[in-house]
Amino acid sequence: MAKSKTVYFCQKCGCESPKWLGKCPSCSEWNTFVEEIVHKEVSQGWSPAKLVNPGQKLRKIDEISGENVNRLETKDPELSRVLGGGIVPASFVLIGGEPGIGKSTLMLQEALAFPGRKVLYVSGEESHQQIKMRADRLGISNTNCYILSETELTQILGYAMDLQPDLLIIDSIQTLYTAKLEGSPGSVSQVRECAGSLLRFAKEAMICTFIIGHITKDGTIAGPKLLEHMVDTVLMFEGERHLNYRILRTIKNRFGSSSELGIYEMHGEGLKPVLNPSDILLSHREDELSGVAISSMLEGNRPLMIEIQSLVTQSGYATPQRSGTGFDSRRLSMLLAVLEKRGGFRLGNQDVFLNIAGGLKVEDPAIDLAVCISLISSLENRVIPSSVCFSGEVGLGGEVRAVNRIENRISEAERLGFKTMYISSYNFNKINPEKYKIQIVGVKKLEDLILKLFIKKN
Ligand code: TYD
Ligand code: MG
Repeated sequence: MAKSKTVYFCQKCGCESPKWLGKCPSCSEWNTFVEEIVHKEVSQGWSPAKLVNPGQKLRKIDEISGENVNRLETKDPELSRVLGGGIVPASFVLIGGEPGIGKSTLMLQEALAFPGRKVLYVSGEESHQQIKMRADRLGISNTNCYILSETELTQILGYAMDLQPDLLIIDSIQTLYTAKLEGSPGSVSQVRECAGSLLRFAKEAMICTFIIGHITKDGTIAGPKLLEHMVDTVLMFEGERHLNYRILRTIKNRFGSSSELGIYEMHGEGLKPVLNPSDILLSHREDELSGVAISSMLEGNRPLMIEIQSLVTQSGYATPQRSGTGFDSRRLSMLLAVLEKRGGFRLGNQDVFLNIAGGLKVEDPAIDLAVCISLISSLENRVIPSSVCFSGEVGLGGEVRAVNRIENRISEAERLGFKTMYISSYNFNKINPEKYKIQIVGVKKLEDLILKLFIKKN
């Protein structure tokens, strides 16, 4: 019979040791040893495995029917969107996020509102009563939702096997442990072993499984990176704790786009999907301020209008401060250099603060043009009318480059009642501006736009 015991392996080079070592004797890396279960089997050299049912596994790709899998509907349009249109049967999804951001609330809410299906919600963090209190607060009831307060893996799998739910939720993977390993719950080896067993269970029993994962200080999911490789989908729940908005972002998705975004608002009675996010991202100000410019950004397939705010002031120190919230600070430095060199603005002695409203982090280069305009608007203390928006990437030569899906962006700007939109002239040449009610202006160079907006009008 196969015997099982635990040994320690170096994560870097695979060196094996019977006990834990701080430094790997083989590759000299520190803190890389993790405990693993090994099954010692006496093998007699190589021999082919006995095939039980060969016809089942080996198939020609063009003979496999590509029938659509029936995704499970959820009542939450934001969750469906980030998963690529509903929950894929037997999928294994990891949700990460900072403590207190609302992961447990979101998952309990999904569990309670899963129409007509059996759900098992396993919590290693809260008792039955505490979960019930939260459910009462959410104000939704579901007769098919079962609660289990347990942390030992085989027990959980036993209950899940008996119940055969359609959806299994684990809160959280860091609280589970298996008695087979020595490490405490949350250690790398425990997390990996528990996730591995849950994954096999999900695939074999055909149960959709969501696991909640904590994140470390630097914002990555705690535990081995392997966890992210194992799962089908990784979602990240983000947001500023003092703001009410929460963003559910797809990091990886085997069954859909990996750049989708869902937006929620945290209320006293749970999370509510925000169906018209551009409305909340724009501040609808009464009096106009300098340093504010509006741009369109694209997350997945969805265009969003966002507000960019800048403050450019005379610096009191020899080295001026540069800070960007929600925007890459290296890209900010690059745009400042372009404005100095190509626009002739003196920014070297100015403190620059840039903020993307709503706590979003934006990587879409299409907001470059609005970032530049907002910086100059603050420097010159001149207001940009709130009916104007921008969409274009800025190159090192000060040229305004084309961006993708310009038509979606224009439609969103038009829908929200903007009057004028500045876009790259390369984009402009490919569209039919007469089709839109909004006035569209093509721009070739950043200098031309700055001249037009700030200089010529005087
Ligand atoms: P929680 O969901 O427990 O966060 P996590 O599981 O990510 O650690 O907590 C979410 C926070 O939201 C908590 O501070 C209380 C608050 N909250 C609300 O504002 N409204 C609600 O209806 C609920 C249930 C929680
Ligand atoms: Mg929690």
